[in-house]
Amino acid sequence: MLTVRAPATSANLGSGFDVFGVALGAPADVVRVERAPETTISITGAGSQYIPEDPAQNTVGAVAEALDAPARIRIDKGVRPSSGLGSSAASAAAAAVALNALYDRGLSRNELVPIAAEGEALVSGEAHADNVAPSLLGGFTIATGDGVTQVDAAIPVVACLPETSVSTRDARDVVPKTAALEDVVDTVGHAATLTVGMTRDDPDLVGKGMDDEIVTPERTALIDGYEAVREAALEAGATGVTVSGAGPGILAVCHELDQRAVAGAMIDAFDAAGVESRAYQTTVGEGARLYRDGS
Ligand code: HSE
Repeated sequence: MLTVRAPATSANLGSGFDVFGVALGAPADVVRVERAPETTISITGAGSQYIPEDPAQNTVGAVAEALDAPARIRIDKGVRPSSGLGSSAASAAAAAVALNALYDRGLSRNELVPIAAEGEALVSGEAHADNVAPSLLGGFTIATGDGVTQVDAAIPVVACLPETSVSTRDARDVVPKTAALEDVVDTVGHAATLTVGMTRDDPDLVGKGMDDEIVTPERTALIDGYEAVREAALEAGATGVTVSGAGPGILAVCHELDQRAVAGAMIDAFDAAGVESRAYQTTVGEGARLYRDGS
C-alpha cells in the first residue's frame, strides 16, 4: 500500500487566470492505493458525500484509467469540494503520484501534470492544469500549453472559505469571452509583477500583482460578502486579495505578522454578511508527498 498527501491549491491569483497556481501548506487530501484487478474508490472526509465514488465519474478514476493502473483507492478529503481550493485537483494529483509509484510507471512529476489535469475535465468541462500543477510540484506554478514553470516560494497567505459553494462550471460560465486591450495590458503588468514577487518571496509585490479587471469582477458577484471581506482583509494588512480559483474561497496575501489579524477580519466580515466561514493561515508550500508502506 502507498499513501500520498497532496495539498490544496489556489489558482489564478487574480492576474493569472487558468495559468497561475500555488500549493498551500493546508488543507490537504490523503490518498491510499493498493493494487486490485479493477479500480474501486471510497471517500471519507470533508464534503465526501457530494463526490461520486463511481470511477467513471471521479477525477481519480480518470487518472487510474490514464495510467492503466487499477487499484483499490481510498481518499480522505481534507479539501472541501467546490470551495475554490482545488479539491478535485488535490485528489487527482495524489492519485497520480501514488499510482505512478504503485505500478512503477516512472513518470516525472511534470509528466504527471497532463494526466492529473485530464481528471479536471470531468469536473469543470475542460482540462486546465493551474491546480494540479502546484499540487504535484509545490510552490508557485505557471501552467501554459507549453508546459509548467515552477518556482519555490514562501509567501504567507490566508485562505478564507465561506460555507457556501460555487460550482466551477457556473463560475466559468460568467467568464467574458473577450477583453479590452487596456485591461489586457494592465493584466500582463500585474502578472509580471506577481511573478517577480514570487521569485523574491515578496508579499508586497505578489499582492500588488493580484489585481485583475477581466475575470475576477464577473465572479465576485457569485460570492456573498466578497467586497466587505476584501476590504476588511486589506484594512487588516493584506497586500492583495482575490477570488481563490473559481471561488467562493477568498485568498489574501500578507506579511506573516499580519496573518492572524487578516484571518480574523475576513471571518468577521463574512459573519457580518450572514455567512459562516473558516480561515486557513498558511504559506505557499510543498507539493504532493509520497509515503511508502502506508507510513
Ligand atoms: N482556473 C480555474 C478557474 C480554476 O478559475 O475556473 C478552477 O478549477
